[in-house]
Amino acid sequence: MKQNYIDHLNELESQSNLRRIAGSVPQGLINLSSNDYLGIAANQQFKAEFLEGQNFANLSFTAASSRLLTGNCPEYDRLEERIARAYQRESCLLFNSGYHANIGILPALAGSGDLILADKLVHASIIDGLQLCKAEVRRFRHSNYQQLESLLQKYRTDYKRVFIVTESIFSMDGDLADLSQLVKLKKKYEAFLYVDEAHALGVVGPLGLGLAEQAGLIDEVDFIVGTFGKALASVGAFVVCDHVFKSYLINSARSFIFTTALPPLNLAWTDFIFTKMLQMQKQRQQLQQLIRSFSKGLNIPAQSHIIPVIIGENKEAVRVAEQLREEGYYILPIRHPTVPEGTARLRLSLYAGLQLPELEQLMKQLAHHEATLD
Ligand SMILES: Cc1ncc(COP(=O)(O)O)c(C=O)c1O
Repeated sequence: MKQNYIDHLNELESQSNLRRIAGSVPQGLINLSSNDYLGIAANQQFKAEFLEGQNFANLSFTAASSRLLTGNCPEYDRLEERIARAYQRESCLLFNSGYHANIGILPALAGSGDLILADKLVHASIIDGLQLCKAEVRRFRHSNYQQLESLLQKYRTDYKRVFIVTESIFSMDGDLADLSQLVKLKKKYEAFLYVDEAHALGVVGPLGLGLAEQAGLIDEVDFIVGTFGKALASVGAFVVCDHVFKSYLINSARSFIFTTALPPLNLAWTDFIFTKMLQMQKQRQQLQQLIRSFSKGLNIPAQSHIIPVIIGENKEAVRVAEQLREEGYYILPIRHPTVPEGTARLRLSLYAGLQLPELEQLMKQLAHHEATLD
């Protein structure tokens, strides 16, 4: 019986697709594989300032219970209020991670008799959430809103409620959803719009609230999901929504109910960082400038700080990544099932504080490879 698992691992190995937990990022390499888009994780000053301001006697390292039992604390309420206020929306509910949010919210809200229409390239956590749904699920081709509209035309009246689901900046392709088109469709067909802003939070919008903020559409998106583990250098996630949905989720989202709450210490750090993030316009501008220069240098139309260089075969992606490591860049190859088969890639994530000259050698190397962004 055990042999089946060994065979499977051997097969992955033969396809250059065996995952191993990497060691820490070697010192001295430029790390283009992290999601620390604002450079907060590396910011020693923030860390020191936060630690100085804490009264550790009152701050626990564990919640020791789920939130609905004894796991709630003032740090939870403060952070939810701060986020709701920043978005100028009625409510915010925290989850333990983006994964928890995405596997909990849709299965709670969409039941049998409902329809979910999700972009083909949404993150694995959303896909897992969709699998837990009792609602009917259909996927539309990536950012193909014509196809989305035909599905809405064809099926809208057959279902009680319809949910349109997308990421805002796509995690593995770095391209952007057209939120204004999605808002038009959701209004026209009376659907809910669910947008995962995991990779846009901190990075775009005047306050860093994401693509919905940048597009002036915060009020039109029914569910805005953000995660703290990326640009905010913390842990956890949130959904911004109306009061009624918050109450409903508290009563029905299983990944919210049946898990130990986040430790107060982490919530206090997230609160501290969220406040800082709102003011990090300079870093956002630096990052946008870097994206422009880098994409000009490589002659590619980068839409965001996430830049996929599609290599194709796993083996070749691993080889190029290793070669780049020798040149001083830490870039992990991304393979199936994270991305579709045959589209193994290097996913470069740029971050504020990185200087263009530091990327020069990389640009030379990548010039030999086709960098595709569509
Ligand atoms: C789009 C998207 N949503 C959700 C998640 C999951 O977030 P978390 O790491 O907080 O579980 C990720 C990343 O892992 C992601 O890329």
